[in-house]
Amino acid sequence: MSLLSVKDLGVQFATNDGSVSAVNGVSFELNRGETLGIVGESGSGKSQTVLALMGLLAKNGKTQGEALFDGQDLLTMSAQQLNKIRGNRVAMIFQDPMTSLNPYLTVERQMTEVLELHKGMSRRNAKKRSIELLDAVKIPEAARRVMMYPHEFSGGMRQRVMIAMALLCEPELLIADEPTTALDVTVQAQIIALLKDLQRDFGTGIVMITHDLGVVAGLCEKVLVMYGGRVMEQGNANDIFYHATHPYTVGLLGALPRLDHDDTESLISIPGNPPNMAHMPPGCPFSERCIHAIERCHRDLPLLLPVSAGGVLRACHKQVEEIKQGAAHV
Ligand SMILES: Nc1ncnc2c1ncn2[C@@H]1O[C@H](COP(=O)(O)OP(=O)(O)OP(=O)(O)O)[C@@H](O)[C@H]1O
Ligand SMILES: [Mg+2]
Repeated sequence: MSLLSVKDLGVQFATNDGSVSAVNGVSFELNRGETLGIVGESGSGKSQTVLALMGLLAKNGKTQGEALFDGQDLLTMSAQQLNKIRGNRVAMIFQDPMTSLNPYLTVERQMTEVLELHKGMSRRNAKKRSIELLDAVKIPEAARRVMMYPHEFSGGMRQRVMIAMALLCEPELLIADEPTTALDVTVQAQIIALLKDLQRDFGTGIVMITHDLGVVAGLCEKVLVMYGGRVMEQGNANDIFYHATHPYTVGLLGALPRLDHDDTESLISIPGNPPNMAHMPPGCPFSERCIHAIERCHRDLPLLLPVSAGGVLRACHKQVEEIKQGAAHV
């Protein structure tokens, strides 16, 4: 059984402007020890996809579909069941550390509380373990700093504290929303190495939102490319990066992926702006900005279909060969 099996996940928000479909028809399987990267421009639905899985959508949001974690549906379980799983078997790292750190409690109290609650540890052992984890995320003088409050840490250090907190219970599933964006390149590399260790030691499955190609190349086996609340292309990371066939993915990668020689490369920006989610055009969400678009693209929504036997799925009306020829001229 997959660790996480998401089928046809949808997220709608009720707004004054009508219903906004922020996420539509997202499906994927994640096995233990595997990493799925979610990439796409701002507003494409990446965060709402993972927030839905964690039961953390804003009040005006509702979900559709199914998200089985170890066989149990995260979308329909009671708040009580979800609370038991969250922070224990499933943990999340947010882009902004202050989302999950309490400014009024010392780091020690926040960390030991989790271990006492979920693992039944004594305060003394919980403190020892907390210091070990702060050490593991390379916080200098962890034994002293554990007694500090979040605001006494620099931004980068706070991010590491949050990562240490997420790892406290050795989660089976770790969901990370741009966890290394605020960190400098050396620290980013250390954090990625740490996540890899965690995966090796505990078989943790990771869902990672990132705009950093180095992170995708270094960590992800699978990739999901989102745009306008929909999946444009998904599959094995190598297939997607070295043989991208969706015009949006090709655009994001800058036609020629240069993964091999620069770890710090970011996804490039494509001319034009993402669509207004409250007033989506009828056809392909990317059609307005797509250099390959034909009349049909503005009219009919393309289905997410297999490209080849390799398991890559893409949602595009144009043939793979046409895109490849087009890309050669860019
Ligand atoms: N509470 C809400 N009510 C209405 N619309 C919302 C709400 N929360 C998010 N949205 C909309 O959902 C869409 C997807 O947002 P999401 O946060 O998933 O983007 P994202 O891909 O994570 O972008 P970024 O890279 O900027 O973090 C956006 O258009 C956003 O405006
Ligand atoms: Mg986001």
